[in-house]
Amino acid sequence: MNAKGLKAIMINQREDFTYRLLMDAGIKKGFRILDVGCGSGDVTLLAAEIVGADGEVIGFDTNEAALDIARNAAAERRIINAKFVKAEIGGLPQDIGRFDAIIGRRVLMYQPDATHSVKSLLPYLKTNGLVVFQESDSMGSFKNMDLPLHTQAQAWIWDTVAKEGGNVHIGSNLYCVFKQAGLTIAQVRAEAVLQTPETGSDLAWVVKMMLPRIIQSGTATQKEIDIDLLEERLNSERQNADAVFVRDMTFGIWGTMQA
Ligand SMILES: C[S@@+](CC[C@H](N)C(=O)[O-])C[C@H]1O[C@@H](n2cnc3c(N)ncnc32)[C@H](O)[C@@H]1O
Repeated sequence: MNAKGLKAIMINQREDFTYRLLMDAGIKKGFRILDVGCGSGDVTLLAAEIVGADGEVIGFDTNEAALDIARNAAAERRIINAKFVKAEIGGLPQDIGRFDAIIGRRVLMYQPDATHSVKSLLPYLKTNGLVVFQESDSMGSFKNMDLPLHTQAQAWIWDTVAKEGGNVHIGSNLYCVFKQAGLTIAQVRAEAVLQTPETGSDLAWVVKMMLPRIIQSGTATQKEIDIDLLEERLNSERQNADAVFVRDMTFGIWGTMQA
């Protein structure tokens, strides 16, 4: 498979769960949606395509550099119903209005009190509005004897998140978070994301993105990671082992705030 084909599979693998979650939760054309901790906008833009021209999605994040990437991606893809705002949970602009759905991916894991964060967003939800979140859980990190470098790279990622104070079990905690926030849960689900020699892997890319954090947290050294050769080493490990790597355990949940 060529590099373009592999990239397409990886993008699908990253977005596929999110797309199904949003559709199954009932996100519809014309919805007004708030995307919490939108980062570089992948979920915001996906939602903007689902709600169509009559809908609107506002993504907010504290990271201005990520918001710039999101704005550029929207312009490049000519998506005009997505807007990006610099704000934090608990500090949204007063005039932002109310939403048919509040969504978020991999953001509650970084909140010191996820229930408090979800509760603080509920005043922005319309009556009977939807709340949809996707989070990962480190429970997917099995020690795979055939893939020691993959196992190691996965551990660098989760150990860094844990050292930064992130909740590595937020996925399996989502049910309790929603209940304690007073939401009526419609469905909670989980799915293992598997990688094989055929699918390729985003592991080296994620380690590269997190490299300064991995090193700063003291989880691993530049020499141990050897980032320039990491992707090549991972690829050959997967090819030689001809094995399945459990990359992630992804959780999704949706519910409503009833009047
Ligand atoms: C792992 S990224 C996920 C980005 C995006 N949701 C996605 O799935 O592609 C987490 C994002 O949450 C943002 N974030 C974390 N805590 C936040 C808060 N309290 N308020 C707003 N954004 C926050 C970070 O700046 C970062 O961009």
